[in-house]
Amino acid sequence: MAHSGSLSPPLPPTAKLNQFTLTWFIFSSVYAIVSIAITKAFSYFLPQPKVSWPKVKDSQSNLPLSDSITIVTGANSGVGYEIAKAHFQKGSDVVLACRNKERGEKAIEDILKESNISPSDNSSKRLRLITLDTVSLDSVRAFVQEFKRCFPGRKVDYLFLNAGIAQKPYDANRFTPDGLEYMYATNFLGQFLLTGLLSSSFSDSIRIISTSSQGASQAKLDPKLAIKGPGKPDEKTNMSKYQVEAGFHTAKVPPVFDAILSLIKLDLFNQYGQTKAMQVAFGNILQNKFDLAAKERGNARRKFAAAFHPGFVATNIFKGFFTPDQTTVISIAQAIIRFLAITPKEGAQAGLWLAHTYDARPGAFYDRDIELVLPWYRSYDDQLADRLWQRWNNDADLKESDWTF
Ligand SMILES: NC(=O)c1ccc[n+]([C@@H]2O[C@H](COP(=O)([O-])OP(=O)(O)OC[C@H]3O[C@@H](n4cnc5c(N)ncnc54)[C@H](OP(=O)(O)O)[C@@H]3O)[C@@H](O)[C@H]2O)c1
Repeated sequence: MAHSGSLSPPLPPTAKLNQFTLTWFIFSSVYAIVSIAITKAFSYFLPQPKVSWPKVKDSQSNLPLSDSITIVTGANSGVGYEIAKAHFQKGSDVVLACRNKERGEKAIEDILKESNISPSDNSSKRLRLITLDTVSLDSVRAFVQEFKRCFPGRKVDYLFLNAGIAQKPYDANRFTPDGLEYMYATNFLGQFLLTGLLSSSFSDSIRIISTSSQGASQAKLDPKLAIKGPGKPDEKTNMSKYQVEAGFHTAKVPPVFDAILSLIKLDLFNQYGQTKAMQVAFGNILQNKFDLAAKERGNARRKFAAAFHPGFVATNIFKGFFTPDQTTVISIAQAIIRFLAITPKEGAQAGLWLAHTYDARPGAFYDRDIELVLPWYRSYDDQLADRLWQRWNNDADLKESDWTF
């Protein structure tokens, strides 16, 4: 179990279905328009990529991945699906780590269909579904056990930490049964634990690629921010109701924006950006640990960790901004998004490029093949990195000795 010392106990569900509709519709429409405008504006300032991977034409020849093992979290949809498919088509044994068995099986069916491979063909066995719900630390542990049972003695060559949500489900508690903030658990901590538990099974040249987001630029990973807890301490637990460690679980946002957010009781980019920034910091910290271990062993650096922003991609992630009963709005929003955004296949390119290139800086954060520099890098130093590392290990109930670098 995670240590929930500085986290508040579970709060009631954020809202009921019928409480959402009008406010949520207006807010999500405004949100969608603003975020599309920002992404489009960004794309004007960023140079176009020099390299993309895989180029469709030479995809069969440039990278044979036979005898390798790839794990992709959130592989049944969007960016993760495309990454899993690309690696399968190049010959890798691909483990689809999905929370829902039916959706995972459907993804396998679709990948085989798109690869013109019959389910009875021997090579279809290179696709394997192992269920993983990143929101639950127990599920992560069970996944690792199952992986080791299915692939005894085999090493992981590619680990794509891709599963994510942009909005906590309307009916989910703010805190998970492990006592962790919901989005923190889903987007980051579960996959942090996964990486730690798998680390003894990493190949010497493992590539760990996190699907982060430009949202990471809005985050605040700042040790100077104090722990704030407005409410009086709970009588039973003696903990402040809203006590969370600023810089780790909450972002500092302008008061007006904060006031608007509190009206609709939903997280939006506030929490999302924090988790996406943690993925970036994790890649950096992990890389430093890999490098140090390689140096101590007198080896050259071979293990590699990095994060990327996939772009504004037309995927199912945006459905999370609506309640399931808003079917018409969802259809309209999805149609608009499909029109404006890039396809999941295009969104997967930067991740695939990072997994195979020798041109990227290890431990860094990329948008296509361009390294991004985020505002919070200014306050990011060894001390903060250590603090984050300890905090994550503590929350995931991992010890330093559980890691193999
Ligand atoms: N789309 C964009 O514009 C965009 C932009 C920046 C970053 N990203 C990042 O890209 C990544 C992939 O998202 P996407 O856009 O491809 O969206 P998507 O199509 O919704 O895919 C997300 C995947 O994550 C899975 N997932 C969600 N919660 C999970 C959990 N608790 N346990 C295991 N799997 C879980 C989903 O499973 P279910 O199908 O079962 O829900 C799905 O397979 C995310 O990390 C997202 O933050 C996307």
